[in-house]
Amino acid sequence: MANYRIAPSILSADFARLGEEVRNVVTAGADIIHFDVMDNHYVPNLTIGPLVCEAIRPHVQVPIDVHLMVKPVDRIIPDFAKAGANIITFHPEASVHIDRSLQLIRDHGCKAGLVFNPATPLHYLDHVMDRLDMILIMSVNPGFGGQSFIPEALSKIAAVRRRIDDSGRDIMLEVDGGIKIENIAEAARAGADTFVAGSAIFGKPDYKTVIDAMRGQLAQ
Ligand code: DX5
Ligand code: ZN
Repeated sequence: MANYRIAPSILSADFARLGEEVRNVVTAGADIIHFDVMDNHYVPNLTIGPLVCEAIRPHVQVPIDVHLMVKPVDRIIPDFAKAGANIITFHPEASVHIDRSLQLIRDHGCKAGLVFNPATPLHYLDHVMDRLDMILIMSVNPGFGGQSFIPEALSKIAAVRRRIDDSGRDIMLEVDGGIKIENIAEAARAGADTFVAGSAIFGKPDYKTVIDAMRGQLAQ
C-alpha cells in the first residue's frame, strides 16, 4: 500500500478547546495537522496565525502543515517557522516572487509547497519542481470548510501525479476540500497521497472511527 497520510484540518475543530481537539485527533490517528491561515484579503475569511500555531505545537508530535491563504506571503513565513510549522504552502498567484518565497520557507527549515485553486493553471510548476516538497490541489475554492468536492480536481491531481513521477522527486501530493469517506479512494486513485479533511472528521463525535474508515477505503 502507498504511504498515505490523513491531515485533519483544524478549521472545523472547536476553537474553544483547541489543545484538547488536536490531541484527540492525533490520538485518533492523524498523520499531519493541517492549519488553515486566512487573511480576509486573499480569501474572504479570517482565521488563525502564528500565535495559535505556537500554542498547539506542544500538544502534537506530528508535523504541522500550514496552508497560507494570505497575500502577500513572505512577511509571515519566518513567524510560522518560529511558531513550529513543519510544512508551509502558499498560493503562487499571491506571491510576486514565487522562487524567493519557496526558498525563504526552506531557509527557515520547513518543507515548502505550492497550492493550486480549481482555476489556477499548473504552469506555475514549470521552473520550481526542485524547490517543492509538497503540491496541494484545492478541490474547493479556498475560504471555508464544509464545501462540496469539485470533481474536476481529479484530472488535475492525475496531471500533477504524472509531473511528480516524471521529475523523480519525493514530493507529497495533497488534496484539500470536501474530502470524506465516500470520495477519498477516488482522490487516491487519481494520485493523491495526503488527504486534508476538516468537516468530515471534526463534524463527527468519534474521530478515530472516521480516520479508520478513511484508511479502510485507501487499503482497498
Ligand atoms: C478551505 C481550507 C480547507 C478546509 C477543508 O479553504 O483550505 O483546508 O478546511 O475543510 P473540509 O474538509 O470541510 O472541506
Ligand atoms: Zn487548507
